Amino acid sequence: MRVTKLLSLIRNRHLVQKFDDRMVAPEAIEAVLEAARYAPSAREAQPWRFVVIQEALLRHEVAAAAFNHPHVRTAPVVIVCCARIHSHVSGNGRPSFPVDIAAAAQTLIIAAADLGLHSSWICGFKESEVQRVVGIPGDVPVVALICLGYQAGLADLPERIPHEDAIAWDRWALPDGRTPLR
Ligand SMILES: Cc1cc2nc3c(=O)[nH]c(=O)nc-3n(C[C@H](O)[C@H](O)[C@H](O)COP(=O)(O)O)c2cc1C
Repeated sequence: MRVTKLLSLIRNRHLVQKFDDRMVAPEAIEAVLEAARYAPSAREAQPWRFVVIQEALLRHEVAAAAFNHPHVRTAPVVIVCCARIHSHVSGNGRPSFPVDIAAAAQTLIIAAADLGLHSSWICGFKESEVQRVVGIPGDVPVVALICLGYQAGLADLPERIPHEDAIAWDRWALPDGRTPLR
């Protein structure tokens, strides 16, 4: 398989272990948010709303709402990913907004990697606390926090489950009854 620049970027994106305190240029923040705005969304709802937190004091309050996660405490930029429209239910009976926001967040992360930035995705937080601290209305879900900055230490690349455990062709199970997907 030909490994394109994009595929290589996706494969080699490391989870940050520690953030450096180096600031992120406003143009870089704008660029990653611009990428996120171009993510797909169910019914083109584009429910994402992003609040960019840079103020140190505020970031510490958000970190407190995220069980004092060190990434939230130390990243120079924390992007609070919210959903404005959350009433749409997809044909599969599930609300579409978490998927829409995830698509935007992942697009943002890949765009950040392309700019030499590192990111950390955090869903462990008290939603009502994040809403209170940032002034987000109670009916606007907070789906994720994306910490952004330059790394001062990288985690090991996590092992991915093998190709054959993750992907099947045409059917979940093979005709002989073996189930390739685990
Ligand atoms: C939806 C989602 C939620 C996550 N929430 C947290 C979290 O609350 N705390 C944390 O330390 N990491 C969190 N992570 C980061 C994952 O643990 C990390 O992505 C995983 O270890 C794989 O590493 P990688 O990002 O280098 O591929 C989250 C990642 C995703 C995609």
